[in-house]
Amino acid sequence: MLFSPSTSLVLLAGSFASLAAAQNDGDFSPPSYPSPWMRGGNGWQDAYAKAQEFVGGLTLLEKINLTTGVGWEGEACVGNTGSIPRLNFAGICLQDSPLGIRFADLNSAFPSGMNAAATWTTRLFKSRGNAMGMEHRGKGIDVQLGPVAGPLGRVPAGGRNWEGFSPDPVLTGVAMAETIKGIQDAGVVACAKHYIMNEQEHNREPNGTVKFAYSANLDDKTMHELYLWPFADSVRAGVGSIMCSYNQINNSYGSQNSYTLNYLLKNELDFQGFVVSDWWAQHTGVASALAGLDMTMAGDQNLASGNTWWGSNLTAAVLNGTMPQWRLDDMATRIMSAYFKVGRDTARVPTNFNSWSSETFGYIHPQANEGYQQINYHVNVQADHARLCREIAGASTVLLKNVNNALPLKKPKSIAVIGEDAHDNPGGPNSCGDRGCNRGTLAMGWGSGTANFPYLIAPNTALKEQAARDGTKYSNVSDNYDFSAVTAALQGTDAAIVFANADSGEAYISVDGNTGDRNNLTLWGNGDALIAHVASQHPNTIVVLHTVGAVIVEEFKNHPNITALLWAGLPGQESGNAITDILYGKRNPSAKNVFTWGKKREDWGVDVVYTPTADPPQLNFKEGNFIDYRYFDANGIEPSYEFGFGLSYTTFEYSDLKIQKMSPGPYEPTKGMTKAAPTFGTIDFNESNAEFPPGFHAVNKYIYPYLSDDVPRDQVQNWPEGSLEGTPQPKLPAGGSAGGNRQLYDVMYVVTATVKNTGGVKGVEIPQLYLSLGAPTDPRIVLRGFDDLILDPNESATFEVKLTRRDLSNWDTASQNWVVSNYPKTVYVGASSRDLPLSGTLA
Ligand SMILES: *[C@@H]1O[C@H](CO)[C@@H](O)[C@H](O)[C@H]1NC(C)=O
Ligand SMILES: *[C@@H]1O[C@H](CO)[C@@H](O)[C@H](O)[C@H]1NC(C)=O
Ligand SMILES: *[C@@H]1O[C@H](CO)[C@@H](O)[C@H](O)[C@H]1NC(C)=O
Ligand SMILES: *[C@@H]1O[C@H](CO)[C@@H](O)[C@H](O)[C@H]1NC(C)=O
Ligand SMILES: *[C@@H]1O[C@H](CO)[C@@H](O)[C@H](O)[C@H]1NC(C)=O
Ligand SMILES: *[C@@H]1O[C@H](CO)[C@@H](O)[C@H](O)[C@H]1NC(C)=O
Ligand SMILES: *[C@@H]1O[C@H](CO)[C@@H](O)[C@H](O)[C@H]1NC(C)=O
Ligand SMILES: *[C@@H]1O[C@H](CO)[C@@H](O)[C@H](O)[C@H]1NC(C)=O
Ligand SMILES: *[C@@H]1O[C@H](CO)[C@@H](O)[C@H](O)[C@H]1NC(C)=O
Ligand SMILES: *[C@@H]1O[C@H](CO)[C@@H](O)[C@H](O)[C@H]1NC(C)=O
Repeated sequence: MLFSPSTSLVLLAGSFASLAAAQNDGDFSPPSYPSPWMRGGNGWQDAYAKAQEFVGGLTLLEKINLTTGVGWEGEACVGNTGSIPRLNFAGICLQDSPLGIRFADLNSAFPSGMNAAATWTTRLFKSRGNAMGMEHRGKGIDVQLGPVAGPLGRVPAGGRNWEGFSPDPVLTGVAMAETIKGIQDAGVVACAKHYIMNEQEHNREPNGTVKFAYSANLDDKTMHELYLWPFADSVRAGVGSIMCSYNQINNSYGSQNSYTLNYLLKNELDFQGFVVSDWWAQHTGVASALAGLDMTMAGDQNLASGNTWWGSNLTAAVLNGTMPQWRLDDMATRIMSAYFKVGRDTARVPTNFNSWSSETFGYIHPQANEGYQQINYHVNVQADHARLCREIAGASTVLLKNVNNALPLKKPKSIAVIGEDAHDNPGGPNSCGDRGCNRGTLAMGWGSGTANFPYLIAPNTALKEQAARDGTKYSNVSDNYDFSAVTAALQGTDAAIVFANADSGEAYISVDGNTGDRNNLTLWGNGDALIAHVASQHPNTIVVLHTVGAVIVEEFKNHPNITALLWAGLPGQESGNAITDILYGKRNPSAKNVFTWGKKREDWGVDVVYTPTADPPQLNFKEGNFIDYRYFDANGIEPSYEFGFGLSYTTFEYSDLKIQKMSPGPYEPTKGMTKAAPTFGTIDFNESNAEFPPGFHAVNKYIYPYLSDDVPRDQVQNWPEGSLEGTPQPKLPAGGSAGGNRQLYDVMYVVTATVKNTGGVKGVEIPQLYLSLGAPTDPRIVLRGFDDLILDPNESATFEVKLTRRDLSNWDTASQNWVVSNYPKTVYVGASSRDLPLSGTLA
């Protein structure tokens, strides 16, 4: 037997029962079939035409090859599809990560997504995306596995939050869209991930203890207003691929959930690209294809298992008539459309690096130790991206406190730099695989979302150089536990700069007992005690934090000897230069918090579920829309530092709010039917032609499309109702265009305000617009717009936000559409989520 029947599908079919109950154990995802086929709209027309022609000329086996990875370490990249030797078409190469190329050399290690967000600067979102895209292009990578909107950042201890941008869906949505445009302008397909609800690391995958991954159970309204929002922006930006996640949503796996893939993503959001599974996140064969999965990675059922859900198995399912040709053609067409859309046909160079060895010579099939030849060509793709890394790292450093003119430093006579986090990792910045340790200065979390550092400038290095230029006496201590050395180093210094950190990452690596997610929200490696020790001795203590998210700073933030506090996040390779720019005023701080700093762990209201009480573990998202600042606001909790807050060396003043109403006309639900599913080319149903060609050499553990057994023809399968239908289907009222109904993006109001630099130096202000949607069930305010204004002293500029229909709407579950409620709506403009001097009512 080639296939085992899909138990989860049996469960799925016909189980609408609990639709009314939201966020409860055992919630079900309603089935949604058939899987929407591509239609080629929204700027995909040319790519679709090219893909149709290409796919129409392929054989069954060649189409299957495009959909299935060749297995773990089968080829050079972390993921590779089969190739089409007849057309001299190399397999598609997919490579981590969201902050640079993983497993390569002569590449840049960019600031994290979280740091990019903290710049609040769309220009930098896009330049960072473009620089990363150019580097991937130069190494011969087709798909960059990023950016990240899942996790969004529901729980502050979530291990991978830093790979993404911010728990705010609007900030994340803008960052996603601009990063995607940047990557794809470079001729590389971006991959928005992890779709969806991948909000914690614990139990994201089945393990020895739990047989199933956790299920995130959440209601339809929260899905639309919070977690799906940035993915809508990604689709609207034309993203070529989306990666489905490990976890379950309403007790159905992310890579076979027909509701999240078929209904929400491909129908409502009108996504035209392809869905690729997270590595081994696929758990069924035909069922996942019918539920909307288009490409499986790494291709093998489990790491190097040598067998596959697709490949030969999918070939068999097409030959016995189970898997309709239109679905296979749609999968292949979506993949090739993404390829043509970004111009891979002209941008492509052969893959010239190898993920599995840094040696020049090695195996082209590393899993099988086969094909010894040159595998690394050491192509330098860094260009001048170091400058951009330094700019983003500086522009993402948030100045949280600055009293007594502590900063900027002006040629002090002597300084002491304290803390392991200021210093080099003695083993070198890449000494721990996938950055799976916390030694020396922290500039990146751990896991697959990493890149090798070409170099890492530690703060100690850059500050020492600055001191030498200024004639400043310099002392430093790297040992966080050697307080007597610290005390000695502080003697007679003008300023003590103390560094500390907190790390996190992906679940497959545990660091100091932290299995991806953080176990606590305090500093690592004696950091809190070190800061307390320095502050007890030095009246000018400047604290710099490299952390993956919020840490508890309440113990020391108001300490009278702590004159300045900065958050530098995970700044990447230029860390030390960037913090020196800020501390010495060569760059005026402009960053603002992209998350809320609570006073204690309980302040966030939600947390990681570390110990499952059911299998699958049930994570009920009962807080709905109320995460991060929305929760603090709704519950009257005073944070240490609020969302959107950050200081500058100058000051700004807000005035003159103006609201202009636009008349885009009424909102029309999308109506009508799609076309019938097209097919491209004909399928040869002769089984003999689908077998391994005579004399074919099969690489060990490699995944192929060829039949390896007889095709089963007599099994009874209850495929979900409608799942095999290629007939025209009704369009969704909220759908019809990229990111949903095109009228959702009509501009309803234009809001402007004046921002003036009232201080003595040039600076950048990040004005923010928040909106109250007005209903008692709505958050107090939600972010809807921001900008970065560069202002000389006394200079003023206009801050402008265009509010769209979507911005003003709530999701209405009954009509399955966005609706502008009758509640009065108020806009607020100011410098943070709790500093909003201007307000006005939307008429
Ligand atoms: C999950 O179940 C809830 C409650 O039944 C429902 O509102 C929601 O739409 C479902 N979401 C998904 C993705 O299945
Ligand atoms: C499928 O891909 C594999 C791996 O690249 C290749 O060896 C094989 O020839 C391909 N098969 C066809 C039919 O193109
Ligand atoms: C599986 O997950 C549980 C719950 O998080 C954990 O206690 C256990 O150690 C894990 N088991 C393995 C084999 O990783
Ligand atoms: C096809 O799927 C079945 C069921 O999981 C599996 O046992 C078999 O090894 C697969 N066949 C191939 C060739 O991978
Ligand atoms: C000061 O920094 C240097 C590197 O510049 C390092 O070798 C030395 O160990 C540090 N000093 C102390 C006391 O930690
Ligand atoms: C928090 O976790 C870090 C990393 O495991 C550890 O170094 C630190 O001591 C912990 N803090 C507390 C208060 O236990
Ligand atoms: C601040 O530093 C001075 C040393 O300059 C020390 O005497 C004092 O106790 C410190 N204050 C606190 C609150 O620790
Ligand atoms: C199937 O293909 C084989 C090999 O190409 C050929 O010998 C055989 O005649 C074909 N069978 C039919 C029914 O066409
Ligand atoms: C066709 O093959 C697929 C995959 O092996 C299997 O799941 C299905 O039951 C088969 N269909 C019939 C009618 O035997
Ligand atoms: C700003 O304007 C004030 C009042 O017009 C003026 O006194 C001051 O010199 C100006 N400052 C700068 C830096 O231009």
